[in-house]
Amino acid sequence: SGCVGSSDLSASVSVPVIDLGLLPSSDEQGKLKLALCSGGCFQAIGHGISNSFLNKVRGVAEQFSQLLQEEKQKYSRAANQVEGYGYDLVVSEKQWYVICSDLTLSRRTVSYELNSCREVLHEYSIKLKQLVDLLFKAMAKSLALEENSFSDQFGDNPVMHVRFNFYPPCTRPDKVLGLKRHSDRSWITVLLQDEQVEGLQFVKDEKWITVPVIPHVLVVKLGDQMQIMSNGIFKSPVHRVVTNTDKLRISVAMFNEVEPEKEIGPVEGLIDENRPRLYRNVKIYASFNYECFQKGKVPLEEVKFHA
Ligand code: OGA
Ligand code: NI
Repeated sequence: SGCVGSSDLSASVSVPVIDLGLLPSSDEQGKLKLALCSGGCFQAIGHGISNSFLNKVRGVAEQFSQLLQEEKQKYSRAANQVEGYGYDLVVSEKQWYVICSDLTLSRRTVSYELNSCREVLHEYSIKLKQLVDLLFKAMAKSLALEENSFSDQFGDNPVMHVRFNFYPPCTRPDKVLGLKRHSDRSWITVLLQDEQVEGLQFVKDEKWITVPVIPHVLVVKLGDQMQIMSNGIFKSPVHRVVTNTDKLRISVAMFNEVEPEKEIGPVEGLIDENRPRLYRNVKIYASFNYECFQKGKVPLEEVKFHA
């Protein structure tokens, strides 16, 4: 979707690296706050998940990508559903097609024969749950809030979705994106990048910067739900994925979302006369965000109070 102008193909620039093993030391907490208030993303080390396990997660994604098309179609996604295998076909303003193939398997509905996939993802979700629990507490503390200030809004049944993204090689990477610019609808997304192939880009100082591939790192990015709950203090970064001519790129994204029916809004302690409430309360943000994405609207702008 859209053109990748030659001027915005920039070299890899570093994205902050945070050692989760050092939290809640005040130095690391300070770095975390800075990263989340500026770019809204960082690369996590010290997360306690072994490299061999991360490779297992990549392995099951790869295994799925190698299934025959008919086999994959058995798990296909119904129209307007997020669960299942499918392609997103969207025509952009410039009339290029974006083709992003993905597989969404929620923990609730995993029902296919790739049992190792189910087991590995289940184990991965437990490990990531521990990681995100640590993070929301550290994030609240870094803003001098009670540690459950954000999680109080998650509801009794917060959702975790995993998506395998497959970006096949593309003959015209200058013309075709893997995933068009967007911000995630989650409150936090943990992304396991391909071990070798770069492609994820964030906007920094109005330029696209490529996230380097560092072994054993998890890319953590905030989503819109956290920008809303933090009254705009933490950022939900705009990002996209570029394609390349020679190599398939696989990534595994784990999205953490609040319970869909739960209304979310800015935390009271983050609203005062210097920082008035920026966003209205919203429910079912996930589908609202998806509709906006399809229409080319910026969802966060749609829930913002405009003076
Ligand atoms: C996403 C996403 C990035 C990637 O799935 O929302 O931004 O590198 N993925 O695949
Ligand atoms: Ni994304």
